Amino acid sequence: MSKLYDDLNEQMNFELESAYIYATISSYLDDMNMKGMVHYIDSQVIEETEHAKRIKAFLQDVGYRVKYRPLNPGDGNFASIEDAFQKALAHEKVVTARIHNLADAAKELGDHRALNLLAWFVDEQIEEEDTFGAIVERLGRIGNSWNGLYALDKELSKR
Ligand code: FEO
Repeated sequence: MSKLYDDLNEQMNFELESAYIYATISSYLDDMNMKGMVHYIDSQVIEETEHAKRIKAFLQDVGYRVKYRPLNPGDGNFASIEDAFQKALAHEKVVTARIHNLADAAKELGDHRALNLLAWFVDEQIEEEDTFGAIVERLGRIGNSWNGLYALDKELSKR
């Protein structure tokens, strides 16, 4: 099987690692008593495992046996709620760049099946960056206002 499939396998692992990273953010937000944000990020943890599942299903369907590697959740240290969400947004930008590289490789190989899979992720990443970008922007405006933070917390409980 081609390097592209090894790289997709790595992306599957990276999606699982994303779930781990979001789990550390959830744990930090729980410490800050932001229950709505915890709910929001816990949904993200599930979404990331679904992303991994989608790649796994594709690889298994085309006859590639997936391989798992150890996952690194990072140190789980955040300076503030804003910092936690900024790190989430930065992480999503890394994911987007990786997806675009994979799509470039699939295009070069003329692998239409992989391209189809990756097209879904290209769209998904627009939403991922947009939602985290909006939250980061809100947090920037809220600053240190606990009233503002609790209002946002309530909103995010509705995901
Ligand atoms: Fe699976 Fe948030 O990228």
